[in-house]
Amino acid sequence: MNTSFLEATGFDVEEVLGKNLGDTIRRDEKRDKIENIYESLETQGLGIQEELVTTRKNGSQFISEVSFTPIFNSQNIIVFFLVIERDITKEKEVDAMKDEFLSIASHELRTPMTIINGYNELLLSGSFGEITEQQKKYLLRIESNINNLINIVNDMLDIGKLESGKITFEYESFSLHDLIDEVYSFFRRMCESKGLSISYSSQELEVYLDRQKIKQVLNNLVGNACKFTEQGSIMISTEILEGDTILRVSVTDTGLGIAEENKNKLFKKFSQVDNYLQKTQKGTGLGLSICKTIIEGMNGKIDMKPCLDHPGSIFYFDIPFKK
Ligand SMILES: Nc1ncnc2c1ncn2[C@@H]1O[C@H](COP(=O)(O)OP(=O)(O)O)[C@@H](O)[C@H]1O
Ligand SMILES: [Mg+2]
Repeated sequence: MNTSFLEATGFDVEEVLGKNLGDTIRRDEKRDKIENIYESLETQGLGIQEELVTTRKNGSQFISEVSFTPIFNSQNIIVFFLVIERDITKEKEVDAMKDEFLSIASHELRTPMTIINGYNELLLSGSFGEITEQQKKYLLRIESNINNLINIVNDMLDIGKLESGKITFEYESFSLHDLIDEVYSFFRRMCESKGLSISYSSQELEVYLDRQKIKQVLNNLVGNACKFTEQGSIMISTEILEGDTILRVSVTDTGLGIAEENKNKLFKKFSQVDNYLQKTQKGTGLGLSICKTIIEGMNGKIDMKPCLDHPGSIFYFDIPFKK
């Protein structure tokens, strides 16, 4: 340990030297958690990063980001662990404030936008008098831009809810095929107008999941595929893995693809990959991070891989689908 450790925790050298960290700074952390960390360090031999609660000498606590790295001897046996801690309490607070701000701002924005949309719809429907073709064209433009804004605000609200843990999953049994057909029908017109073909192959399968949230994930994956594909096709497919318990849904496109070095950015908040279509496409860079939180919330995982035989990407998620 170094002086920073002593300063951060308030202990003197004699009080911690040779002692188990579990008895000093980590005394409130659940034993199992620590044991699990050490166990996976020993079995996998790889470094691990975790958020843990650190207790100071005076009993007060802070949140630290702790990285554990095993150090091996020449016989490849772990001789000790290098542990580096970073106090991230402030970052956590700022994050929470940012989320709260996002949530308030989004609520305040959504109400007026819904009202504008309502009046616009009334005008479009001719309830206040007949409208000319040109007026209709402009009202439709207002509608499409307001819808973009509403989508962005909804993403921001979702990320706020998801991150504050206020999200609940409503599981139900439903037909996977019907759901995929709905998503397909929604995007067909958009794809056709861009000259893309879209298709799906899905087995008749009854799944037990949160239907609305799975639909939200698929909408974003297929929406992204449409945005970042200029020619070719988009394909939604399903597969059952691992002895009948895991469902894989994949969205394959023939679009720009994603460079390997950008892959790890994708599922982070507000992150967009630099590509030449980005400037003309609307979006917040929140979609995939929402998808990740939703899929992981239902014990699944989401990832992407490049297509092997053509340019483009495959975004897929694996999820346990049985009751
Ligand atoms: N199918 C895809 N092909 C190429 N790039 C993609 C694809 N899907 C996502 N991306 C990249 O990942 C970024 C993040 O996607 P997302 O989180 O859904 O945000 P948004 O759609 O709001 O930009 C996109 O901006 C894009 O750069
Ligand atoms: Mg998106």
